[in-house]
Amino acid sequence: MKKLYRKLVSIRDPFARVKRHVSLHSGFRALRDRKWMFPFLASLIMSIILLILSIYGKFDAEDQLPLDVVSESNEYFVESDFRQSLKSKADVSPELPRLAYLISGTKGDSHRMMRTLQAVYHPRNQYVLHLDLEAPPRERMELAMTVKSDPTFRQMENVRVMAQSNLVTYKGPTMIASTLQAVAILLRESLHWDWFINLSASDYPLVTQDDLLYVFSNLSRNLNFIEHMQLTGWKLNQRAKSIIVDPGLYLSKKSDIAWTTQRRSLPTSFKLFTGSAWIMLTRSFLEYCIWGWDNFPRTILMYYTNFVSSPEGYLHTVICNSKEFINTAVSHDLHYIAWDNPPKQHPVSLSLKDFDNMVKSKAPFARKFHKNDPVLDKIDKELLGRTHRFATGGWCVGSSDNGNDPCSVQGNDSVLKPGPGSERLQELVQTLSSEEFRRKQCS
Ligand SMILES: *[C@@H]1O[C@H](CO)[C@@H](O)[C@H](O)[C@H]1NC(C)=O
Ligand SMILES: *[C@@H]1O[C@H](CO)[C@@H](O)[C@H](O)[C@H]1NC(C)=O
Ligand SMILES: *[C@@H]1O[C@H](CO)[C@@H](O)[C@H](O)[C@H]1NC(C)=O
Repeated sequence: MKKLYRKLVSIRDPFARVKRHVSLHSGFRALRDRKWMFPFLASLIMSIILLILSIYGKFDAEDQLPLDVVSESNEYFVESDFRQSLKSKADVSPELPRLAYLISGTKGDSHRMMRTLQAVYHPRNQYVLHLDLEAPPRERMELAMTVKSDPTFRQMENVRVMAQSNLVTYKGPTMIASTLQAVAILLRESLHWDWFINLSASDYPLVTQDDLLYVFSNLSRNLNFIEHMQLTGWKLNQRAKSIIVDPGLYLSKKSDIAWTTQRRSLPTSFKLFTGSAWIMLTRSFLEYCIWGWDNFPRTILMYYTNFVSSPEGYLHTVICNSKEFINTAVSHDLHYIAWDNPPKQHPVSLSLKDFDNMVKSKAPFARKFHKNDPVLDKIDKELLGRTHRFATGGWCVGSSDNGNDPCSVQGNDSVLKPGPGSERLQELVQTLSSEEFRRKQCS
């Protein structure tokens, strides 16, 4: 150490000589020398310590690198808390499930929305109604008043009409934004729901809620029903390279999406998926989408802002690129939808001649129906047992004598009376959980 110091001093000799010269007559020569020596020694020791630290630090970083890759076992990062909480959630809960519905509509839809709401009503569930900005305020007011004046809704407090109405472009990101807002409201307002279901005013159920709750009580609460496939071929180039702008994001009047002349390249940090916009998703997956702990759902949301038909891709791309959720995706939208042959842009409207096919499909929902189409009455009568406001259920314990509404007296909402619909749905669910179906997951 002393040798090294001497060498260093000799290198700095010219400087030292000047110093010595300056201080020659000061009479404090020895003291000045030592004053200079001390900070120098200190800084030397410091730099050696720093050097050692940096070497060890490097080893540390190298040690942590593989840990980062398998970060599930890593308690040093905050994200692991979220993964832990996912794991600890019970797979099949002994309690009956609860569903959260979003029913959305536009101008002139309020009566259809009420009918759909009544057909899917159950006291265990939560409901949010959203009439978009195209509907006049008077219609929204009327809808809110109808909900408020219903004695069952008032007592159960499980139906909400969104006061804020969004401008929704059906092919644009504003549709997703509106759906996510409804999810955020449901997460804030109600602690108790297991699945979220997205319906529109032109949807209708084909099974009772008792059927649905009965069959789903037997399922893993982690299953997400989202019809999906990887976006490939000409569709990939056509959809993913074009850039659209949704004026609904910043204008107060509805207008169609705008196409730009610019093209963008295909993403390389994630794969694109597409599928049906009709979904039944778990609370844990939607919490992940809303909170965005690992930023991925948010990044994808931003990417999809300029993507055409984003409601048919956003959630699909998120779920199929997240390793926590990829194994939970079941590729079915639980809807019966009929398409023209060859398929056109919009599904055909269902009528009496489609009734048998609807039942055969075993799907719990169907779309789309014209307002008050006679087939809805047939569904009410033959599939839902809906004689008054609501479809039958174990919770309706009133007498139906003299044409009374049995649901005007509410019983225990954990008592289910599943009917033939539950058998159809059970068969569908069994098909969906088969090995063959699982293999198609996110591919
Ligand atoms: C939700 O429901 C609406 C119908 O009101 C549909 O158009 C939309 O694409 C659905 N899905 C999403 C992800 O928003
Ligand atoms: C629950 O699932 C099992 C196995 O999948 C099946 O055998 C049983 O019938 C189901 N029970 C109900 C109530 O659906
Ligand atoms: C409701 O029914 C369930 C299942 O049959 C039962 O466990 C529960 O105690 C009942 N609750 C009330 C308040 O009667």
